[in-house]
Amino acid sequence: MTSLKSIVRGTGSYLPERLLTNDDLAKMVDTSDEWIVQRTGIRQRHVAAEGEFTSDLAVKAAREALDDAGFDISDIDLIIVATTTPDMTFPATATLVQQKMGMHHGVAFDLQAVCSGFVFAVATADNYIKSGMAKRALVIGAETFSRILDWTDRTTCVLFGDGAGAIVLEGVEGGEEGILASSLRSDGAHWQKLYVDGGVSSTQTTGHVHMEGREVFKHAVGMISDVVENVLESAGYTCEDLDWFIPHQANKRIIDAAGRKLGIPAEKTIVTVDRHANTSAASVPLALREAVKDGRVNKGDLVMIEAMGGGFTWGASLIRW
Ligand code: UT7
Repeated sequence: MTSLKSIVRGTGSYLPERLLTNDDLAKMVDTSDEWIVQRTGIRQRHVAAEGEFTSDLAVKAAREALDDAGFDISDIDLIIVATTTPDMTFPATATLVQQKMGMHHGVAFDLQAVCSGFVFAVATADNYIKSGMAKRALVIGAETFSRILDWTDRTTCVLFGDGAGAIVLEGVEGGEEGILASSLRSDGAHWQKLYVDGGVSSTQTTGHVHMEGREVFKHAVGMISDVVENVLESAGYTCEDLDWFIPHQANKRIIDAAGRKLGIPAEKTIVTVDRHANTSAASVPLALREAVKDGRVNKGDLVMIEAMGGGFTWGASLIRW
C-alpha cells in the first residue's frame, strides 16, 4: 500500500486593492456599520477593479504560493481552481490560469462547491496525488463575488468580498506531515436557501445571490461540527489535539458558535472575516496564508480547515503542517 502523502509546500494569497467599508455600504443601502459588525463581525471587504477577473486574482495568489514553495510553474502538473465566479461560462478559469502562467503540460480544471470549494479542491488534489495521477498541485480558491451581488439588497451585499488564496501540494513518500484525512458532504435538498437566480441553462443570465440567512446560519454550526468531528475521528485525533482551526469566514458568530460547540478556544481560531468578509472559496486559503505568513502556523502543527456553503456543501481536512 502506498504511504504517499500530500504535503503543503507553499501558500499564497491576493486581495484586490479597492476597499469597501461598512460606512461606504451605508451610503448605498439602508444599513449601518453597527448592524453589520454586530451581526457578522465584518468591517470591510475588498472589491476587484473593473477588468480584473477571477483568473487574475488566482494567478497572483498562485505565483506567491509557487515562490513560497520555491517551485516553478514547470514543476506543477495539476491546477484546480475552486470558484463560483468564473471569468467565462467556459473555458474553465483553471485553464485561463494555466495559460496566463505559461503552463502547457498537465491538467487544469475548475471545481464548483461554492464556499466549500477550496476544501473540496484540497481533498480532490490529495486523491490525485495519492493515486499517482499528479505529483505537484496548485490548489486555488478565487472569487469575484462582487459580480454576482445585488448591490441594492442589504441582506446579501454587505456579506461578501473578492480575493484569492492558493497552496502548492507535493506528494511525498512516508513521513508525518501532510493531509491526514478529509471529509466532504453535500445535500441538494437545501439549494433554495442559498443560490444565484441565473444560469446558462435556465435563464441565460448570470443572476444574483439570494440567501435565507437565518436558515443557513441554523444549519451551518451543526454541519461544520459533524464534518470536523468525522475527520478527527478518522485520523485518530480529538479537538484538543488541534493547534489551529481555520474555518470558512462567513460570519464571526458562526465561527464562534462552531468553536464553542467543538470546544476549540478562540486563541486557536484564525479569523479574517472582519477584514475580508465572505470571499467564498477564497476564504480558507486567504486565512491560511495569513496565519502562515505571520508565523502562527508552524511546522508540525495540526491544522483543521473547514467550510460550508451553497448546495448545501460542507467539508473539512486535517493537515499536519
Ligand atoms: O458561506 C455560507 C454563506 N452564508 C452564511 O454563512 C450566512 C449565514 N447567515 C448569516 O450570517 C446571518 O443570518 C445574516 C448575517 C445574513 C443575518 O443575520 P441575522 O441575525 O440572521 O438577521 P436576520 O436575517 O434575522 O435579520 C434581522 C433584521 C431584519 O429586519 P426585521 O425583519 O427584523 O425588521 C432584516 O431585514 O435585520 C434586517 N437586516 C438588515 N438591517 C440592516 C438584514 N440585513 C440588514 C442590513 N442592515 N444589511
